[in-house]
Amino acid sequence: MKLGTPLSDTAVRVMLLGAGELGKEVAIELQRLGVEVIAVDRYPNAPAMQVAHRSHVIPMTDPQVLNGVILAEAPHIIVPEIEAIATEVLAQIEAAGLARVVPTARAVQLTMNREGIRRLAAEELGLPTSPYAFAGSSRELMEAAHTIGLPVFVKPVMSSSGKGQSVIDALEDAGNAWAYAQSSGRVETPRVIVEGRIDFDYEITLLTVRSRDVDGQTRTDFCAPIGHRQVSGDYVESWQPQAMSEAALAASQDIAARVTEALGGWGVFGVELFVKGDQVWFSEVSPRPHDTGLVTLATQTMSEFALHARAILGLPVDVSQREIGASAVIYGGMEAVGIAYEGVAEALAVPTADLRLFGKPESFERRRMGVATARGATTEEARARATEAAGKVRPVRK
Ligand SMILES: Nc1ncnc2c1ncn2[C@@H]1O[C@H](COP(=O)(O)OP(=O)(O)O)[C@@H](O)[C@H]1O
Ligand SMILES: [Mg+2]
Repeated sequence: MKLGTPLSDTAVRVMLLGAGELGKEVAIELQRLGVEVIAVDRYPNAPAMQVAHRSHVIPMTDPQVLNGVILAEAPHIIVPEIEAIATEVLAQIEAAGLARVVPTARAVQLTMNREGIRRLAAEELGLPTSPYAFAGSSRELMEAAHTIGLPVFVKPVMSSSGKGQSVIDALEDAGNAWAYAQSSGRVETPRVIVEGRIDFDYEITLLTVRSRDVDGQTRTDFCAPIGHRQVSGDYVESWQPQAMSEAALAASQDIAARVTEALGGWGVFGVELFVKGDQVWFSEVSPRPHDTGLVTLATQTMSEFALHARAILGLPVDVSQREIGASAVIYGGMEAVGIAYEGVAEALAVPTADLRLFGKPESFERRRMGVATARGATTEEARARATEAAGKVRPVRK
């Protein structure tokens, strides 16, 4: 892959579909290599749009509109950052050889639907997962919960970040869980996955990078495991490394290698795993940088965003960890447009602390508006510092 000059005939053009905080960091890394960046999202002034060469505001779930923007911009590489995309368009664009889809159109299609990736992982690859079933009605949900055994997690097959997810402890709650899933799912065809609960000791994200080595062969590298804490299906805190037994780490890497190999292509994957002792279960995988991987901004030689930029361009990567660190999320805590942030100086006065404020134009109560990172001699120290720094930042109305 030759790199060029942005806004000229030699430019390498990358289109980000989804322009959130993760895309913003990827865009910055691509900018550093002189790549021309086009950011697309459904609302104006999305974080990555603010650091891109150009941007488009479109409904990305509309196949015709999406196709039109791709044809007009003629990107060399398309990087989906979110799941709510008309992925059939990506498959056509890839099949016609018009652009490379990261990591592959098939990977994007399989992972946008919990059913696609779960069947691939459990039924084709034989990876250990929670017991599961799919349900297309409240009645089927109740039957599945009964068969699997309570408690069960109920998740719309098309959803992310905990949207529409609930846990039921009693069969009577099946109706409510079904209704809740319908209210927050992404598509009209109502369908949920019902999963038995895994009683894990801890959960990790294993960032796995598929890249082209100097001989042109695809290689797979693993970042140090990232531990994280989820509240209502949304990450609030992450740290790296998560201490693990050698056997659990080996099993995790084996699962991650197999699932990412099956998805194919180049780029960063966030492989989510549950761990109990030496036992590991596959949970899900993002074919892109992972929100819990924001911690790598503070810990690794190359953050997950730099790794993604390099890998998708066919360039070599370095996954080494340099520091022990942690990240803690800063929520909006209010519904308002154009909010301000107080306490930034106090936050940055916490030893080793750093901040990302994403610049999202509108704040919601539980919207992630920024993140604090910190380092430490131990993960405990790093977590305490990151949490302290995040807590000092106070979103306020103007
Ligand atoms: N089967 C399960 N057993 C135990 N915990 C689970 C299970 N499924 C989900 N969780 C918890 O809920 C979180 C979010 O679920 P996940 O499937 O990752 O949804 P999302 O795609 O919204 O991130 C997980 O990180 C984990 O903490
Ligand atoms: Mg998840």
